Amino acid sequence: MRAREAFRVLRANLAVAMAEVDNPCIVVTSATENEGKTSTCVALAESVAAAGSRVALVDLDLRDPDVHRVLGGHCDVGASDVLRGHRTVEACLQQVQFRAGHNEPPTGLQLLAAGPAVANPTELLSEPRLRPLLHSLTSIADIVFIDSPPVLAVADTLLIGQLTAGAVLVVEAGGTPVPTVQRTKDALVRSRVPVLGVVLNKFDNRFAPEGFRVELGYRSVPDHLVSPPGAGPGPQPVREPVDPEAEVPPTPLRAPLAGAPGRTTPGPRRP
Ligand SMILES: Nc1ncnc2c1ncn2[C@@H]1O[C@H](COP(=O)(O)OP(=O)(O)OP(=O)(O)O)[C@@H](O)[C@H]1O
Ligand SMILES: [Mg+2]
Repeated sequence: MRAREAFRVLRANLAVAMAEVDNPCIVVTSATENEGKTSTCVALAESVAAAGSRVALVDLDLRDPDVHRVLGGHCDVGASDVLRGHRTVEACLQQVQFRAGHNEPPTGLQLLAAGPAVANPTELLSEPRLRPLLHSLTSIADIVFIDSPPVLAVADTLLIGQLTAGAVLVVEAGGTPVPTVQRTKDALVRSRVPVLGVVLNKFDNRFAPEGFRVELGYRSVPDHLVSPPGAGPGPQPVREPVDPEAEVPPTPLRAPLAGAPGRTTPGPRRP
């Protein structure tokens, strides 16, 4: 299975989960840093946009924002401005163009980047400030994807998640211990954030135990998930798709992971 197909499966699974709720916002998160939240969030948003939905993508990882870099946008204005009451959502949106396939026409999605760094992200993400921001996005999009910080590092994602239909939990295969995943899922559920699905990222089939091998795997993150550092503001070119023969990164799963309870110490979060 290729990357695009994997995200189509994930998209279809989410559509089923979303059919039962009346909230078009989905937060993408993980237990700890670097598991692939941003990569998954961008690829998922592009997959849904390519299928014809109006998509907004907002970067609420206010401490370590990356979506603008991956999409080739800028972070000069964005969510932090809106949350502080300095700008409207409409004034901060960036239209991002990409191609879902080599022969596909350009597709667009709306990006609300994180905006300038702020000293008090958790306070800014409180319900009275965040709800109107999400409301503005849902008035211009059919579905809103939210990139977020790691659950075990800061309280931000639990606050964000409470205003969404639920979370897509990214798990780094072979990287995140099962008790850590369990603890993360418990934290989400305790905060009334349903886990809509789990993406097993960076899965390497070569190391899967006998009986667990599946007909997919990955070699590396597809090029279209990585933009050159320092991509600046201004009109952005249409992003070309990756080689359709590139192998898939994530394995979408529908059910939340089960695992033995336990405690681990989360890694440090950048200031
Ligand atoms: N499936 C994959 N295969 C290989 N590399 C990947 C894959 N997914 C993500 N990566 C790489 O892993 C790194 C972390 O990815 P990403 O930025 O998406 O994670 P993150 O969880 O958003 O990180 P952070 O916690 O810093 O926000 C990046 O260098 C990215 O290119
Ligand atoms: Mg990230």
